[in-house]
Amino acid sequence: MSWKSSAIQDLSGKTVVITGSNSGLGLASSHALAAKGAHVIMTARDEQRGWAAKAKVEHAIPGASVEVRRLDTASLDSVRAFANEFSGPLDILINNAGIMAIPFSQSVDGYEMHLATNHLGHFALTASLLESLKAAPSARVVTVSSVAAKQTAMSFNDITTDAGYEKWSAYARSKLANLLFTYELHRKLQSSGSTISVLAAHPGLSSTNLFPDDSGRMGGIVKRVAQSADAGALPQLFAATSPTAQSGQYYGPSFAEFRGGPKLLKVPKQAVDQGQAIALWNQSMEVTGSNFAF
Ligand SMILES: NC(=O)c1ccc[n+]([C@@H]2O[C@H](COP(=O)([O-])OP(=O)(O)OC[C@H]3O[C@@H](n4cnc5c(N)ncnc54)[C@H](OP(=O)(O)O)[C@@H]3O)[C@@H](O)[C@H]2O)c1
Repeated sequence: MSWKSSAIQDLSGKTVVITGSNSGLGLASSHALAAKGAHVIMTARDEQRGWAAKAKVEHAIPGASVEVRRLDTASLDSVRAFANEFSGPLDILINNAGIMAIPFSQSVDGYEMHLATNHLGHFALTASLLESLKAAPSARVVTVSSVAAKQTAMSFNDITTDAGYEKWSAYARSKLANLLFTYELHRKLQSSGSTISVLAAHPGLSSTNLFPDDSGRMGGIVKRVAQSADAGALPQLFAATSPTAQSGQYYGPSFAEFRGGPKLLKVPKQAVDQGQAIALWNQSMEVTGSNFAF
């Protein structure tokens, strides 16, 4: 599909929240959605980086309606503080922030950092913003996963300690959690008769700060073969805006899920295991103290 962000319809009057919007795919998505007239709430864990990103969007799109708010997905207090300050209908939530393959560390709440940043924070955020999503006529929640989700099985042990820790497995588990969460939320909202759509997307391989300049040989290879952040953001933008995208769908790049325009993907088998999805849901509810008011 040779879909481009220029195909996005007019989004005037729509409000968008994007996590991790100061860099990479989040910044590219902020840019594309602001260009179509949406009011984009660019969230960042570091407000200085958020302000710098906002300035870039405003420079590229004079008159863009953007604001910056602090949101650290690895802190449940930060997630709650953001949600408490948020008011009004929310049309699009893009759960995009992420970290990849870092040495073992724990979030302020005591959970393994990939799971906390990439999944638990987004789970709690979505729950906290559900009333605002319900207040929009046909809201969408898009969560950004990865091909890494295919390379693992869900495990529920050791979410606090470094027992058996391996950084790539930890990343893959968090990205599978993004998909399991997407499908369980989709099922729960559908059965409650909600008009909210829930989708997932992944960017293939995109040149962003996920692969820092000092990430050695692998980082060098990635920089040479990866597509741009603007191209990598297309699947999440399609999922967030296309009139043809539907709840429960998963989009990624068309060429071998590696690069190219957005394409509807087959969901990895691990992600459609409802037993695992419910187990993850229950664990996430307990760990985050969330309440989804369906
Ligand atoms: N790039 C790829 O090839 C690729 C492939 C598959 C999946 N993905 C997924 O795409 C998403 C976006 O990543 P990217 O490639 O755009 O990387 P990126 O350029 O590093 O952007 C990641 C964003 O997430 C933010 N972030 C990290 N920890 C956070 C936290 N605790 N709270 C709030 N924000 C936090 C970062 O903020 P700071 O700037 O403060 O660090 C940054 O804004 C991630 O979910 C990643 O797993 C990317």
